[in-house]
Amino acid sequence: GSDSKIVVLGKAGVGKSALVVRFLTRRFIWEYDPTLECTYKHHTTIDEESVNMEILDTAGQEWTIQREGHVRWADGFVLVYAISDRQSFEEISNIKQNLDDIKKTNSMCVLVGNKTDLCHERKVSYMEGQNVATDMSCAFYETSASEGGEEISEFFHELHREIKRR
Ligand code: GTP
Ligand code: MG
Repeated sequence: GSDSKIVVLGKAGVGKSALVVRFLTRRFIWEYDPTLECTYKHHTTIDEESVNMEILDTAGQEWTIQREGHVRWADGFVLVYAISDRQSFEEISNIKQNLDDIKKTNSMCVLVGNKTDLCHERKVSYMEGQNVATDMSCAFYETSASEGGEEISEFFHELHREIKRR
């Protein structure tokens, strides 16, 4: 088998916890709960291989010293913004820069634009997300935790594959 340690980052309220819970339980939580940091252990099979994932769901407050420890601990990162929240998108490049500074290398990431169900409130186009992902040389996904498409499992699995490849 193989292991991966994944940290989910992004501005408060973008849906980090909703995505993690959807991935682990296939359910959606509507009630907003500003999360405390929480680590989940997830056992699954990817490409016929037994996999142990540890997923740290962070609380989207400002950067703290504690977070540096999390960054060093992690093998890869899910960077989340909401397509309805321009500011959450603009923060992504800063987060990525912080990660690279701490890791002293190009950190392993996937970029996720969440809340595509709020299409009437869209503030960030698909192309803008794609362009930032290209700049960061990482995979890009748009999704909705509330609708729960296959892509939620896909980006967790894809990040695991990339971690293994490195
Ligand atoms: P913090 O833990 O505070 O950093 O926030 P978070 O990023 O974990 O966000 P959370 O998952 O708690 O979701 C915030 C709010 O957005 C909640 O009310 C969720 O129900 C809602 N939400 C999350 N994902 C979606 C989505 O895909 N679509 C819609 N419409 N709402 C969503
Ligand atoms: Mg949360």
